Amino acid sequence: MEVLSVDHLLGIKYLQPEDIELIFKTADRFKEVINRPIKKVPSLRDITIANLFFENSTRTKLSFELAEKRLSADIINFSASQSSVKKGETLIDTVNNILAMKVDVVVMRHPNSGAASFLSKNVNACIINAGDGTHEHPTQALLDAYSIKNKLGVIKGKKVAIVGDILHSRVALSNIYALKMLGAEVKLCGPKSLMPKHIESLGVSLSTDLMETLKWCDAANMLRVQNERMDLKYFPSSREYAQLYGLNAKKMSDLKKEILLLHPGPINRGVEITSDVADSKNAIILDQVENGVAIRMAVIYLLVAKLNVSSNDPNREG
Ligand code: NCD
Repeated sequence: MEVLSVDHLLGIKYLQPEDIELIFKTADRFKEVINRPIKKVPSLRDITIANLFFENSTRTKLSFELAEKRLSADIINFSASQSSVKKGETLIDTVNNILAMKVDVVVMRHPNSGAASFLSKNVNACIINAGDGTHEHPTQALLDAYSIKNKLGVIKGKKVAIVGDILHSRVALSNIYALKMLGAEVKLCGPKSLMPKHIESLGVSLSTDLMETLKWCDAANMLRVQNERMDLKYFPSSREYAQLYGLNAKKMSDLKKEILLLHPGPINRGVEITSDVADSKNAIILDQVENGVAIRMAVIYLLVAKLNVSSNDPNREG
């Protein structure tokens, strides 16, 4: 059996291109499963997964939960606002308490960059990073690249633009790593104030001109402006941002070519993209959501295969 080169999914940076190919191939199988009348497989019947969300989330949390249920895992959910973290408990104590209840896999979203990696070194479980601060969001990048591949046939040689608030975006960094690893050309576009210093060293080109970028690309990923992460003003107003970096029907028709449009959600309609464009045939935003479940099923399934518990432990029922 083909296996992943990693024991945790902490970031795309730690993967090999073959890992991504294996995840995509496995996701193809699960996509077929979730489109059947009976959308469930018994693969993870003896596995328990804890979803720890120390930061708000809607679609990523629901997508992981659904992926786990479709694989027949037992799941427990925890969100920081209702927990003892508020009483001063450390992250390791919180997680070790949960693991004492015999949890095999931890899916964690955390506001601090590096939290998933820290956890993987300090607790004995498989860790999946569901977003750590402004660092990485690996399953989002996998589902974005998978969605592009499903529409365009291949990633290698395709031109992908990532537009908007690159500075505060974990989606941007994970997407850059994944797309470069798969052989795409990547251009980042946004106001200079939202572009991290030295980001070109990752092998991407930069632009402050949206129309030039859109004319160049085959697919554009329109990032959300991360207002909650901004401690100061990075641009004068949302109106000005929308004029310069937002997509609307006029800009799409001026382009005179078809491109794919992605958005990780949640959308600020009218800021990074207008409603008519977000709901147009170019947008594959709902495909991304559907593919997200298949990708997360694949990631969990492949990491659990590496845990190798179900076949070896005589106390577990097969
Ligand atoms: C992203 C996130 O939380 O990093 N959203 C998501 O996971 N669907 C992007 C965002 O919040 O803009």
